[in-house]
Amino acid sequence: MDAKKDSNVTRRDLLKSATVAMGSLGLAGLYPGHETLASPMGKRASNEPSAKHDTVVGMKFAARDVVRVGILGVGGRGRSLLRDLLAVDSVQVTAICDIGKDAVLKAQAMVEKSGQKTPALYHNSERDFENLCKREDIDIVYIATPWTWHVPMALAALNNGKHAAVEVPAATTMKECWELVEASEKTRRHCVMLENCCYGYNEMLVLNMVRAGVFGEIVHGEAAYIHNLRDILFSNSGEGLWRRFEHLKRDCNLYPTHGLGPVANYMNINRGDRFEYLVSMSSPQVGLSAYRAKHVPAGDPKWKETYRCGDMNTSLIKTAKGRTVMLQHDVTTPRPYDRINLISGTQGTFRDYPPRICIDGQEGGEQWTTLDTYKAQYEHPLWKKAGELARKLGGHGGMDFIMNYRLMQCMKDGLAPDMDVYDAAAWSAPGPLSEMSVAQGSAPAKFPDFTRGRWKEAR
Ligand SMILES: NC(=O)c1ccc[n+]([C@@H]2O[C@H](COP(=O)([O-])OP(=O)(O)OC[C@H]3O[C@@H](n4cnc5c(N)ncnc54)[C@H](O)[C@@H]3O)[C@@H](O)[C@H]2O)c1
Repeated sequence: MDAKKDSNVTRRDLLKSATVAMGSLGLAGLYPGHETLASPMGKRASNEPSAKHDTVVGMKFAARDVVRVGILGVGGRGRSLLRDLLAVDSVQVTAICDIGKDAVLKAQAMVEKSGQKTPALYHNSERDFENLCKREDIDIVYIATPWTWHVPMALAALNNGKHAAVEVPAATTMKECWELVEASEKTRRHCVMLENCCYGYNEMLVLNMVRAGVFGEIVHGEAAYIHNLRDILFSNSGEGLWRRFEHLKRDCNLYPTHGLGPVANYMNINRGDRFEYLVSMSSPQVGLSAYRAKHVPAGDPKWKETYRCGDMNTSLIKTAKGRTVMLQHDVTTPRPYDRINLISGTQGTFRDYPPRICIDGQEGGEQWTTLDTYKAQYEHPLWKKAGELARKLGGHGGMDFIMNYRLMQCMKDGLAPDMDVYDAAAWSAPGPLSEMSVAQGSAPAKFPDFTRGRWKEAR
């Protein structure tokens, strides 16, 4: 729009005209309406790059006796992943990289204490990870660094012939989502997002119940990342050194995957259904400013910061099969931790935090009852097999170990991974898509079909 020429056209007018266009065109009209919105790709969001390479849907790892791992980033999360990996049989951690020498030395000590050989260490510069990725003795590179590094590091791993396992969210722009998809297809290497919440005890139990038809036909899910992170965001170490800055840059769902991954699994997203579009809305930003006013002394450089991200972001996702998902993000208000983790169908509903279930025709009538009665029948085999060690190691109640154990199992046994690059892209995409929708008065933002049609296949 020419700002001078149309200076009397308000934002509300623009939205009104977009709404009218959508109304007159029906569902198909949503996309022309949306396509006027510039995406972070600098292209129209519905433009999907044509496939240059074969799909990696269902692509199996080459089987191997030992899995050799290199790790980028050994702060809080990286060392937790390292501890789990060291507890899995036939896994060797051969190289470690972090810009903090102290972090690298702590990780080195962990590897040595476990009885493994001293790993190669990289801590010379922000781009020393490129040297780690060139090594011959690595099968998969784990990435647990701040979000801005996820994609450059994953690309370095893939382009050097390694598989990549990236922390969440895998990507923060649509362009980055596509870069991961295209690099995984081109290099024939997997890019797995480390969405540990898919491996929680309840999530896997409920997944089994969904597959057994306990909830009937699935119609709706709810997911969230509601976690009071204010102390961490304002800390002068760890995530406090980078994560708060994301709140200055973007107004959206900054961290969509923890809640969404399990619900995507319940709905067979990319395996029979797919996310089609979302609409999103943010509350005002008040939480970080209020926290700063109370806790940060005058004159601290943090007082120069302007926070943009609304405290509560709510998105509604529509799937190709017409199902709906409510997705929320709030890390700046004081309330108990909640990923919601709700799934609802024609025969019943499950809702977590705390876990509860209601099944049509159940004894006692229509009320929440305990999940415990279903555990004997539906406990997931992975938890039966590795649950004891997982609980002992403890990372997020054991889900972290189950995830790492399972990924290593897939690599050793030559299976396809549970989560591939299309999942990484589709579950990360609500970040940038909610940003677009919020900026355009909650206009619909379309998910690209990262699988290019392969989502229709059951797996
Ligand atoms: N899945 C989960 O449950 C979970 C939990 C916590 C964090 N995370 C994710 O893990 C990632 C890391 O988070 P964290 O809590 O460990 O943060 P952190 O700040 O504690 O650690 C990040 C580490 O990355 C290092 N680093 C930064 N730039 C680097 C570079 N260019 N090369 C090498 N190392 C570099 C830092 O020195 C630091 O040690 C984030 O993506 C976060 O979202 C996931």
